[in-house]
Amino acid sequence: MNKLRITGGRPLDGSVHVQGAKNSVLPILAASILAKGETVIHSCPQLSDVDAAVRILQHFGCTVTRFGHTLYIDSREITCCDIPENLMKEMRSSVIFLGAILARTGEAVLSRPGGCELGPRPIDLHLSSLRAMGAQITDNGNSILCRAERLHGCTICLPTPSVGATENSMLAAACADGTVTIVNAAREPEIWDLQEYLKKLGARICGAGTKEITVEGARLGGFAEHTVIPDRIAAVTYLSAAAATGGRVEVTGINPWYISTVADTLCQLGCAFSSGSDFVCADARGALHAAELIETRPYPGFPTDAQPPVMAASLKAAGTTVFSENIFTNRYRHVPGLVRLGADIKVSGRIAVVNGVPELHAAGLAATDLRGGAALAVAALGAQGVSVLSDIQHIDRGYDDFDGCLRALGAQIQRID
Ligand code: UD1
Repeated sequence: MNKLRITGGRPLDGSVHVQGAKNSVLPILAASILAKGETVIHSCPQLSDVDAAVRILQHFGCTVTRFGHTLYIDSREITCCDIPENLMKEMRSSVIFLGAILARTGEAVLSRPGGCELGPRPIDLHLSSLRAMGAQITDNGNSILCRAERLHGCTICLPTPSVGATENSMLAAACADGTVTIVNAAREPEIWDLQEYLKKLGARICGAGTKEITVEGARLGGFAEHTVIPDRIAAVTYLSAAAATGGRVEVTGINPWYISTVADTLCQLGCAFSSGSDFVCADARGALHAAELIETRPYPGFPTDAQPPVMAASLKAAGTTVFSENIFTNRYRHVPGLVRLGADIKVSGRIAVVNGVPELHAAGLAATDLRGGAALAVAALGAQGVSVLSDIQHIDRGYDDFDGCLRALGAQIQRID
């Protein structure tokens, strides 16, 4: 069942509980290698990217068992330190295992993740950070061999606050000799979640959420139980669906603080927002109008992952909404699909200009990437008629029961062959 049949034109109305964050659980799964014992992870979303991460853990020799949204990992036995090419290809962010397996075994062998659907995916900052800690790295362009009997303290200054490079540095530094300071670290909530998990393993780490993270190397290990933070991007996708359909959607289980930048933009588009300590509600039953320039930036700026669903929400807003994508070079691949639905969008380099149209109509669509695919579904919900969206394996990488959540909000959406 790799297509969605979406009957649009009906305002969504209801409440949905948001899943655990994909971008938290993946580095935490990598970190579980450092436990040398048992880890229990709650709120683990059911995603194909998580399945791929589990296969990597099992390849390393870990035992992994899932009961619903709880994952049990036993990392006492690690039998190898390589990530085969097929597993690297399954998930681009498999590079996040590099720091952890190097710290645990003193060696790591993996193939280069290469480019991805969002554009080039360099890992130079991951490698230079590990080198600064003393890792010997041989990179033949295809495969990468890292060796370090012991990693040592140092200061890592990231030229750009890469999420993955920050996480890999934290993982490798957690058991290093000495203190590692990461300057210009990424500040995403998922970095803080990784810090909290590592602390449960005995790591001496602080500063996550600020520009400087300090890790004093320590002996890690033991039992850890952790609940993954809620997925802010899944939350903003469902809130965007409220705007796209002129409906009202409540998302529960989310800290409103995590999504405040996107909520500001959806407010500018005309959504009325209410929130409590763990819920957010967007009411878009009034007219929508264009928002101010939307520029993607590292957290706490507007997240690049929210750009596609929020663009889907802006298509019928009166006036002109301009997007500037500053994180990835190829992140407008959903635009041709949105145009097929009747949207008026012009792309030039990193800029996309959306001129609001009064109506959208159904079309045949294909997902090209995770968030872009979700954006096409959101836009199709706001379009009159029946759209069919294929290649939804991209959406299944990062949304737990995407169509079930939308049905709970009153959407007419079914999986079909
Ligand atoms: C993570 C998220 C992804 C999100 C992105 C930006 C996960 C699993 N994925 O991806 O959903 O879209 O953050 O918020 O958490 N860069 C380099 N060299 C490097 C590493 C990155 O030049 O070694 C560049 C990238 O090309 C990109 C920018 O830095 O332009 C940000 O990338 P990064 O923050 O590393 O993204 P990911 O960790 O891959």
